[in-house]
Amino acid sequence: MSDFQLDITQCEKQFVELDKSKHDRTLFDCGEPQLNHFIKQQAARHMKANISRTMVLASKQLTNGTSAICAFYTITPSAISRKQLPDALVKKLPHYPIPVFLLAQLAVDKQHHGSGLGKITLIKALQHLHSVNDHMRAYAVIVDCLNGNAESFYKKFGFASLGEQNGMVRMYLPMKQLEQLFG
Ligand SMILES: CC(C)(COP(=O)(O)OP(=O)(O)OC[C@H]1O[C@@H](n2cnc3c(N)ncnc32)[C@H](O)[C@@H]1OP(=O)(O)O)[C@@H](O)C(=O)NCCC(=O)NCCS
Repeated sequence: MSDFQLDITQCEKQFVELDKSKHDRTLFDCGEPQLNHFIKQQAARHMKANISRTMVLASKQLTNGTSAICAFYTITPSAISRKQLPDALVKKLPHYPIPVFLLAQLAVDKQHHGSGLGKITLIKALQHLHSVNDHMRAYAVIVDCLNGNAESFYKKFGFASLGEQNGMVRMYLPMKQLEQLFG
C-alpha cells in the first residue's frame, strides 16, 4: 500500500500486518473495551488461525525497540443471506449466501481521535478490500456496529443499514460504490 499524507508525526506512514514481536498491543486504548480486548488478546491468534487479517499503523519506535499502535483494522471474508439485502437489490442475486467482506474491527487510539486518522484507517481498509476484490469477488463490505457512534461514523462514509444482527446494527457498502471511488 502506498504512503499517505498524515499530519500525525508520532505514527509511521503505512499500515502493516500486526506483528506481536514489533507492536506493543498492551498500550492501545480506543475507549471501547471490546476493541481493546480484541487487539490485545485475539487479533494475533485469529491471524494464526487464518480467520482474519489485522493491519496496524504503528507509532515511531519506543525506547525498547517496539512500537505502539496508533490505529488498526481487521478484515475477513464472510457471507450474508440475500434476505438481509433490500428488495430492489436481491432480484439480481442468486438464492444462496452472498459473499461479502467483513470489516470486523476498526479503531484509533484515543490520543489520535479527531485528527482524521479514523477516516484514513477506513479509506485504507476499503482500498485493501478493493484490491482483494480484484482477485476474489464479493458483493459488498459489511460492518457490525458496536454502538450508535460507530453507526454514525460509517453512515457518514456512505454505509447503509441492513437492520439488526445479534444485537448490533449491520451496515453495508456495495463493492460497486468502491469501484467508483478507487476504480
Ligand atoms: C470511530 C473512530 C474510528 C473515529 O476516529 P477519529 O480519528 O476520531 O475520526 P476522524 O478524526 O478521522 O473523523 C473523520 C470524520 O468522521 C467524523 N466522525 C468521527 N467520529 C464520528 C462519529 N462517531 N459519528 C459521526 N462522524 C464521526 C469526524 O467529524 C470527521 O468528519 P469530517 O471529515 O467532516 O471532519 C474512533 O473514534 C474510534 O476508534 N472509536 C472507538 C472504536 C469504534 O467505535 N470503532 C468503530 C467501529 S466498531
